[in-house]
Amino acid sequence: MQANLRVRRYDPESAEQGSHLQDYQIEVPDHFTVLDALMKVREEDDPSLALRCSCRASICGSCAMTVNGRASLVCKTKMLDVAPDGQAVLVEPMNNQRVVKDLVVDLQFFWGKVRAVEPYLQPRGEEPEGEYIASNESMLNLLTPMGCIMCGACVSACTVLEVDKNFLGPAALAKAYRFVADPRDDETQQRLESLNESSGVWDCTRCYMCVDVCPKGVAPMDRIMDLRESIIEAGMTNTPGARHIESFARTVAHSGSLDEPMLAIDTWGRTNIIKLMDNAMLGFRTLRRGKLPLRSGPFHPRRPGADAVGRIFKQDPAAKYCA
Ligand code: FES
Repeated sequence: MQANLRVRRYDPESAEQGSHLQDYQIEVPDHFTVLDALMKVREEDDPSLALRCSCRASICGSCAMTVNGRASLVCKTKMLDVAPDGQAVLVEPMNNQRVVKDLVVDLQFFWGKVRAVEPYLQPRGEEPEGEYIASNESMLNLLTPMGCIMCGACVSACTVLEVDKNFLGPAALAKAYRFVADPRDDETQQRLESLNESSGVWDCTRCYMCVDVCPKGVAPMDRIMDLRESIIEAGMTNTPGARHIESFARTVAHSGSLDEPMLAIDTWGRTNIIKLMDNAMLGFRTLRRGKLPLRSGPFHPRRPGADAVGRIFKQDPAAKYCA
């Protein structure tokens, strides 16, 4: 097949400012991945093309890039799947991270977030003579987060990091869950306290992008929801994030729809005038664009079918952590 690659190039040493797109056409066998095609370009056509890879088998996590706008491991992405009719394939570096050259990003940002959650076991007390033993059952829920290969695809796709670089982000939070849920770790309380702060678990908007792009099924957003549940169960309920989900679940379970003004009041408290004014302005702008349902008055009436909605929350109390 003919591979048509459209690659975003950037050379910090070039006099040209910014990046540009460069097209490459090469003949490749049908089984070629995007990485195979890029390497063929580099070997036979343009040795100046910078990219990062190692295992070529979806293990090392070093080849994450953006393919046709989607964060992907290029060693796992077949050319035939993304361009079945030989159309151009747009290959760009990962988003949300500084580009060093062409398709290579600076991973300092990524590792800084991971380091911030202290990604190592912290047992207290006497060290055991042999190994730390944990039962198989107690480790089962760690299998998914332990599958993370630290490729950064979720960080590239995170819509919160796009607007707020302080957010810990999906990879670091999934890693945090891995240690919070580990029965051999004794710092659970401190870990949860720190994740409960601003830039932690409550800043996730549940857009599902990290779940969608993760090549290993780690589902970072689900792990963030697990952490929220652990935080509430540990009694840390007096934060805007925790109050937000309690209010959201309470009003939806009761009336079948969200009571936005009450949500803002419960989240920020009646005396936080600045935040309430801020939310009121946001509500006004949303209403003006037709994205907020008009209320019939100052009250929040029960909707038809509210009982059925209430039953969902009763049957699955964890549903509120998705609020
Ligand atoms: Fe190792 Fe792609 S090269 S995961």
